[in-house]
Amino acid sequence: MLDIYTLGEEVLGEKCQPITKFDSGLRVLVDAMFETMSEADGVGLAAPQVGVPSRLFVINIQGVEKRAYINPQIIETSIETDISEEGCLSIPGVWHDVQRPARVTVQAQDIEGKVFTVKAEGLLARAIQHENDHLNGVLFIDRLSDEEKEKMVKAYEKRTKGKRRKER
Ligand code: NI
Repeated sequence: MLDIYTLGEEVLGEKCQPITKFDSGLRVLVDAMFETMSEADGVGLAAPQVGVPSRLFVINIQGVEKRAYINPQIIETSIETDISEEGCLSIPGVWHDVQRPARVTVQAQDIEGKVFTVKAEGLLARAIQHENDHLNGVLFIDRLSDEEKEKMVKAYEKRTKGKRRKER
């Protein structure tokens, strides 16, 4: 299990670097990310969320997709958009509607460095865009208006403080 970094940690705002070594270290990281994600009940997890500023995320949507996306690039987005509620393992306890393109085509490398292409829609398209944003230091709350974002941050901070008090 890896620690999940939360709002306020510098690594979550960084532009991540491409992965160049497809070695056993990468495999260990990917396995640990899948485990951490499933333990946290998430459908996606990006490397910066576990403190690693590299261009990699994992997705696990039951019955749809379970895969690591390494050095992903969104090469096509639909003009049609979709609004749906999102949350993030790095901002636990808050959710908000986010508008995004309804469909995307993404090209990425697998654990061996082999290139693959995925045409995604629905939850998978949303998860890919959310995780890809993480690799550019962008969180879903950054996609909201300043006012909405501030509300989300306040709600999160209130929740975090409340939790800490309870734990004592
Ligand atoms: Ni997230």
